[in-house]
Amino acid sequence: MPKRVLILNGPNLNMLGIREPKTYGSQTLADIEAMCEAEGKRLGLAVECKQSNREGELCEWIQEAYGKKDGIVINPAGYSHTSVAIRDALSAVAIPTIEVHLSNIHAREEFRHYSYVSAVAVGVICGLGAAGYRLALEALSERLGA
Ligand code: DQA
Repeated sequence: MPKRVLILNGPNLNMLGIREPKTYGSQTLADIEAMCEAEGKRLGLAVECKQSNREGELCEWIQEAYGKKDGIVINPAGYSHTSVAIRDALSAVAIPTIEVHLSNIHAREEFRHYSYVSAVAVGVICGLGAAGYRLALEALSERLGA
């Protein structure tokens, strides 16, 4: 059975393409999700992509992944810097998770330098744009022995 990976995108990432293209690039979320699905196929992973603007919904999806997904790639977006709840949900399910940010959060405003999620992630990729999702899938596939 292929390893199952959940790709979660947080608030405002549905606005990619329109939203601050100098910072986040010109690709839409649909473009990124299509790339993730293609990369998943190449790596033999079953990839499912979801996006929400709501913290609780992201927590629910993480909880639902328990026993159903083998890995998670998450861009928690603005919630990275505020959400103990998303971090706790990831800790609770203990599914290997890679955190992705399109921009280099360390080269931006100070409030973006800390992510609550990083300490419970197996790794963090930031500043590489949409390629970060592809690299996260590659790393997860290696880790999961897919
Ligand atoms: C982001 C960085 C966050 O600071 C920001 O709030 C986002 C996107 C990124 O992908 O670079 O919404 O996670």
